[in-house]
This record gives sequence, C-alpha cells and structure tokens, in this order.
Amino acid sequence: MMKKIVVVGSSNTDLIIKVPEIPRPGETLLGGEFMTFPGGKGANQAVAAARAGGDVVFIASVGDDSYGAEAIKGYRLDNINTENIKVCKGVPSGIAMITISERGENAITVASGANAELTPADLEEAEEPFLEADFMLIQLETPLETVQKAVELCTELDTRVILNPAPAADLPDEILEKVSIITPNETEAERLTGISVTDELTAAEAADALHKRGIETVIITMGAMGAFLSDRTTGTRKMVPGFSVEAVDTTAAGDVFNGQLAVSLAEGRQLERAIVEAHGAAALSVQKLGAQSSIPRREETSNYLEEQSK
Ligand code: RIB
Repeated sequence: MMKKIVVVGSSNTDLIIKVPEIPRPGETLLGGEFMTFPGGKGANQAVAAARAGGDVVFIASVGDDSYGAEAIKGYRLDNINTENIKVCKGVPSGIAMITISERGENAITVASGANAELTPADLEEAEEPFLEADFMLIQLETPLETVQKAVELCTELDTRVILNPAPAADLPDEILEKVSIITPNETEAERLTGISVTDELTAAEAADALHKRGIETVIITMGAMGAFLSDRTTGTRKMVPGFSVEAVDTTAAGDVFNGQLAVSLAEGRQLERAIVEAHGAAALSVQKLGAQSSIPRREETSNYLEEQSK
C-alpha cells in the first residue's frame, strides 16, 4: 500500500532567467531565455514525494489567478490530493524570480502572495490527512504560526514531522521540540545554531546543538560533500556521501531530497539508505532545468541508484 505523506507549504510559479553570472547589486545583465516553471518549496516537496511513490495530500494556499489554477492542475496530474488547497479571492499566487548562472547556482526572490494567507485555522479544517499520514513534511515559506499549528497537530495525533527549515530562519523551541527529523543545509543549520558548518566536525557540533533543542534525528545537507546524519536513537553519526554530477540547475534539489526522504522512510528504509535514495533523486533533478520539471519518478531514481551501485 502507498504510504501517506501530508505536505504543508508554499506553491509558487518560478519565473527564471539564465545568465552567465548572478548579477551584483546595481548590475544589469543581458541573459538568455526566459522560462516559467511550477515551483514553491512545499509544492516541489509534494511533487517529489508523489513521484517517489507516496500518496500525497498537499495543504497550501494559492490566489484566484491563472498561476494558481495552473498550479493546482499540475498537482492533480501528479495524483496529489488538492482538496485542502485554499484559493484566496483577490490575492495573487506566490511568485519566485530566479536567476540561474551557467554554473547552475541560483539566486531566488519570493513574493509570497497567497502563501502568506495559509492560516492555523486552515489546518484545523484539514485534521483527517494529518491523522492518517505516516509523515508530515513542512518548510518555512508559510507563516510561522501556521508551521507551529501544524507541528502541534502532529504531536497530538502522533504523526512524525520532517522539518526542512528553508529558507533560513530563527525558530522557537516550541516548534523544534515537536520535530522528529530536521533537514537544514549548511546556511540553515548555522542560522539555527550559530555554528558555521563547513565540514564533518562542525556539522556534528551543529547536530548536537539541534539535539539539545529536542530533535531526535538531524540530517544536514552539504551539497557536493553529501549529508551529515546524526541520530540519537541508534547513535549513528556519519557523512552519507552524495553522487557527483554536472549540475545544470540546483533549484529544488533540497526539495527533491526531502520529498524522496519522506517516502523512503515511510516505506521503512533505514535512515542511511533513505538518505542515499534522497541523494539519488536530487542528483537526477539538478541535471535538468526548473523545479517541478526536473523531479524524477520512482523508476528513474531506482534505475539511477542501481547503475551507481555497479
Ligand atoms: O526550493 C526551490 C524553490 O524555492 C523554488 O521553486 C522557488 O519557488 C522557491 O520557493
């Protein structure tokens, strides 16, 4: 049976221009073509989990414009349950302006629009998906009080929480202590702990600081280095290496990692194996342009992992 994942988070449309270098303040650059792709951290994670084989309910908020309508159509094509996506009258849908360099780096600015209208009350109305879920996956592109309500509901209903604390923000203990697994990148880990994460040693220090704030499992994603796993239950503390690939566009790599991780864990894989599978899906996604347009299906990830293990 497919595992149930509830994703609470943002839905954006990504407006993208590819340029030789990310421009400096005050600089005007002539770029390549302009592209539009569906995005948003929450939506990308929902799509990644659905394509990885999860039964996904996405709780989000879009505007009553064509961007919102197109986004919902896309989620349905991925068999995501959209019953709990709110359509806000007179409010624009979320938009992300993304500049991508030739090296695959990006700079992102987000106009939250309707994402800012997702309220704690909206979650109260959607209690059933939380009750049935194997995991709830959440990020920080929706209001903090909504994130807090989501983790409280999960604690009451005994649903495990994966928090991807992106974009970087300070978080109160009332949220962190209710999280089972946290998946910051180096910047986000530094923002939460004050420790500059540059290698395995500093990642271990940051992980300890997060354990002290009540989190059982810490996975710090560190780009080409892989991910540092620290799990208090099993005592596992190690770097889990990623796959070396030529990146075309790293947008949503973290989202793909989290979506796949949730499904792999819900299906019963051990943490280390789930991280390898998440690395595999993310490695495939960075080789294509765009957020949701680059997310692999379960079969592609399985084939890729098999090839890599030869
Ligand atoms: O994580 C990548 C996402 O961040 C993009 O799709 C963009 O919409 C921003 O939310």
